[in-house]
Amino acid sequence: MPETVELHPVIAHRWSPRAFTDERIEPQVLRSLFEAARWSASCFNEQPWRFVIATKDQPEEFQKLLDVLVPANQQWASQAWVLGVTVGKTTFTHNGKPNRYGLHDAGAALASLATQASSLGLQAHGMGGFHHDKAREDFGIPEDYELGAAFAVGYVDPGEVPPATRTRKPLEELVFGTEWGKAAL
Ligand SMILES: Cc1cc2nc3c(=O)[nH]c(=O)nc-3n(C[C@H](O)[C@H](O)[C@H](O)COP(=O)(O)O)c2cc1C
Repeated sequence: MPETVELHPVIAHRWSPRAFTDERIEPQVLRSLFEAARWSASCFNEQPWRFVIATKDQPEEFQKLLDVLVPANQQWASQAWVLGVTVGKTTFTHNGKPNRYGLHDAGAALASLATQASSLGLQAHGMGGFHHDKAREDFGIPEDYELGAAFAVGYVDPGEVPPATRTRKPLEELVFGTEWGKAAL
């Protein structure tokens, strides 16, 4: 939680739980998460993000997503209603040139999704721990798309609470003036 300034509650209450209930996320709610992602900003309005997802009521597809996660993530993510992987297009559609912001923008879209989730009493949990090559192959992801993060979304198990000490680097270490390392705030 922020120590020094007030944050909007949907941002302050976002966190990455490791225990979800298997409560269904209604299709309209699920849609709203990806609608939030869809309205993210992107370089040249390329909208380079793609999402491969499966919900728990699609057992085969859900299992395919679960199978690309590393075991430590499989343990808890298997409870979530949605599993997914973010993907960023590495080229601009209008001229075929490299887009170095593809994955950047896909990450920003996932952040919007997480904020929307938090606003609806859900949480999204990103995961770097998954097998990229297996995901590319199993989901038929084309070469000019780069894999970002896997993620799980669901309603948090009421027994699961955010860690008492959630740590963050101080702003002074993160925001510089034009002299590198010199705090701007
Ligand atoms: C790109 C990315 C990869 C992550 N990979 C994992 C992961 O493989 N397993 C895991 O349990 N958490 C993972 N996390 C969650 C982070 O550990 C978590 O966001 C961080 O500790 C901050 O906690 P908070 O999200 O609750 O604020 C990942 C988060 C991001 C954004």
